[in-house]
Amino acid sequence: MLGVDVGLIGGTGIGDRLAALGGKAMHVPTPHGTARGTLVEVGGARAFVVRRHSFGHRTPPHHVPYLAMADALRRLGAKACFSTAAVGSLHADWGVGTMAVCTDMLDLSGRNLTMFDRTVRHTDFSDPFPAHRHLLSALGADAKLPCVYACTDGPRYETPYEVERLQKMGADVVGMTAATEAVAMHEAGVPYGCLAVVTNLAAGLTKSALTHDEVGEAMTKLGERAVEALVSAVEVALRG
Ligand code: HPA
Repeated sequence: MLGVDVGLIGGTGIGDRLAALGGKAMHVPTPHGTARGTLVEVGGARAFVVRRHSFGHRTPPHHVPYLAMADALRRLGAKACFSTAAVGSLHADWGVGTMAVCTDMLDLSGRNLTMFDRTVRHTDFSDPFPAHRHLLSALGADAKLPCVYACTDGPRYETPYEVERLQKMGADVVGMTAATEAVAMHEAGVPYGCLAVVTNLAAGLTKSALTHDEVGEAMTKLGERAVEALVSAVEVALRG
């Protein structure tokens, strides 16, 4: 099997931007399922590019093949994996379009997903997003914004009270995927970084109800900047 330098995972609203990068279809079988994506030349690197929610956004957060994606990247020899994640902001002043780099997380998803189901293996998690440094270096000085990502199981959005509790616990943004992905990548030994893109204020911080269309539309507008940031991070990772 051919190797790759990096993995790129596009979240909500990013699929078409990633498709525009072109490339050849690539399927990687693993004991955890088959990871499907494309092999693309990005920023001078060979990248395995995956749509987290599949073509046409068909896979909900709790069914994303996290272990297959992570194990595929491990088998392909990826030195890092960068992703985007649409998030709700827990700060009234981090509006739509804010981009933040995940440096820590609060995993409330209850997914308990692991590669070590049949052996007792406890993974150090003191650096949950090791590749965040590449993302921070790739962003301009005015755009460096570290964040704590709270992960819920979804697919429903949060209640106002849940959002208030998350704020009190010190989280900055809320989403449904990045913490689980971080666990899978960590266990696979693939340094992972995630760019959180604010698509909405979290429930209760605005008067209007939150819809997936709103999230998707915001992400479609912000996608170009987000993909540019990932490509810059790939360039930094290759140099480093
Ligand atoms: N909550 C959870 N996940 C999300 C949100 C949100 O407000 N926005 C985008 N993904």
